[in-house]
Amino acid sequence: MCGIVGLIGKGFETKQVLNLLKKLEYRGYDSAGIAYIKDKEIVIKKSVGSIDKLIPKVKPIKINAAISHTRWATHGIPNTINAHPHTDCKNKIALVHNGIIENFEEIKETLKNKGHEFKSETDSEVIAHLIEENYKGDLKEAVLKSVNLLKGSFALAILSSEEPERIIGVRKGSPLVFGLSDDFNILASDITPILKYTKQVYFMDDKEVVILSKNDFEVLDFEGNAIKREPQKISWNEESAEKQGFKHFMLKEIYEEPETIKNALAGRISNNEVYLKEIKDLNLGDIDKIKVIACGTSYNAGLVFKYFLEKHLNIDIDVEFASEFRYKKISPSEKSLVIAISQSGETADTLESIRMLKDKGIKVIAVSNVVGSTISRESDVTIYINAGPEIGVAATKTYVNQLIVLYLLALEILRKKNAFDKGVKEVLKSLIELPEIIKKIIERSNIKPLAKKYKKYHHFMYIGRGINYPSALEGALKLKEISYINANAYPAGELKHGAIALLNRKFPIFAIAPKDKFYSKMKSNIEECKARNAKIVAITSEGNKELEKICDDVIYVPKANEDIYPIIISPIIQLFAYYISSTRGYNPDKPRNLAKSVTVE
Ligand code: M6R
Repeated sequence: MCGIVGLIGKGFETKQVLNLLKKLEYRGYDSAGIAYIKDKEIVIKKSVGSIDKLIPKVKPIKINAAISHTRWATHGIPNTINAHPHTDCKNKIALVHNGIIENFEEIKETLKNKGHEFKSETDSEVIAHLIEENYKGDLKEAVLKSVNLLKGSFALAILSSEEPERIIGVRKGSPLVFGLSDDFNILASDITPILKYTKQVYFMDDKEVVILSKNDFEVLDFEGNAIKREPQKISWNEESAEKQGFKHFMLKEIYEEPETIKNALAGRISNNEVYLKEIKDLNLGDIDKIKVIACGTSYNAGLVFKYFLEKHLNIDIDVEFASEFRYKKISPSEKSLVIAISQSGETADTLESIRMLKDKGIKVIAVSNVVGSTISRESDVTIYINAGPEIGVAATKTYVNQLIVLYLLALEILRKKNAFDKGVKEVLKSLIELPEIIKKIIERSNIKPLAKKYKKYHHFMYIGRGINYPSALEGALKLKEISYINANAYPAGELKHGAIALLNRKFPIFAIAPKDKFYSKMKSNIEECKARNAKIVAITSEGNKELEKICDDVIYVPKANEDIYPIIISPIIQLFAYYISSTRGYNPDKPRNLAKSVTVE
């Protein structure tokens, strides 16, 4: 996720472009840049950090065409070279990109052989060179030819000093919109910057190109056929537009999960095999133990990884809280694989655990969302989860993307261990289908009325078995951190060893009971709770009606491969916590006493 703003018009200030770009800073803020045309030449200014750092570098002059970008790094650390805009060899084409180009390495290799010289580590730069290679005097034709060669998702804004009277936008997979106003026409990655000038917004569909000039626009499909496009009237104000109409960032981020899952998978599966280039040099076939260190939600993601891999491979996996691990005298053996999970990449306890391990000469693989974060810099390799910035303090889309990446890592380990059997292949197939499934779950879920019913309780107990015990932990963590309800999580079979004494009609149970191999045992545990008068909300698989007889409320999720239920269940437990928090009148984005990055011990 990055922010894109492009302007073309009769004359506007450079500052105006950057002010509009600032409205997209919530989409990424590790570096920023602008390209505009002055005296028939492209001028580029870039800076690391927020847009405020870029402003002093940009001359306050009047221009007619500009593109700009605020970045959330995926390929290459946040520095000025990797910041957008990127240019071709002759500095005649500049572009900004949002998304991931899956085949950039192949294209880069081909273009290098043709003499193109690359400056950055990004996937985005190849697009500028590809357009240069295909340019035969018509930018539109060159863009059309080039975008058909790209795999992945992308929103682009393109500027050329050869044709300064237009800017070109391209959409495939990543959103792009435009609007027309008296002074200039605007292209942007979402509607926020446009609303100040017009409420009439043109939404681009997938595989479309727009050619914007100061008086006109033309929308084409990827074959070059003209498409008629009407504007839509938007009633949002600027603040709600930043959240795309959602009341809170947390809700918006849950709704983004289908897209972010695609980004976690992008370029990592080909011909039914996992391809995690970050770890291609590791000898995974040789490992005999795995140690996972993490905190909070990342710890729960680590537990899912453990349950999944231990089911398919005879290997010992320890998942440890980083806050405990950092004080131990443990030295994992040479054949151990150590994985540190941290979405922010800045969590102090996880970082100190890594430092302790590094001091002992032990290699660490990090799983993180933030390129260039301290944990990613200090670990030996980092597998990025590509979830885009998460503003809500509660981890939602980053948890789901952690799970995706950890499943991919587990599948890669299974392949290297010659344990990639039929059952495991099915898991890979299911992961590919997930974006559509999660989209349906979120759209069809009707959790708000349920949350209204349960918001009055002071306690909650989440239960699950096997790979869904971590889902219970995650559900309880979400509920307590944003709703301030005391929520515990137990492996369902463990209740009878003590915690069942708590249950009565004031102590509801949230049971995670999909139709998997533990289902009949879960059902018995649910019966045990019912016998203590507890109210019960259960999640189960579609078609399984029998829980309606014993539970007060049942939430259905699509039947799925039982190994991936923790991902399928995630949006439900997140929405449940979200709606309880918001109907209790709290702000789920900013829970009390919590910070997004816990950089203290
Ligand atoms: O950035 P990290 O993944 O290292 O953060 C770890 C925890 O602080 C974090 O997951 C926390 O538990 C979240 N607020 C959970 O929603």
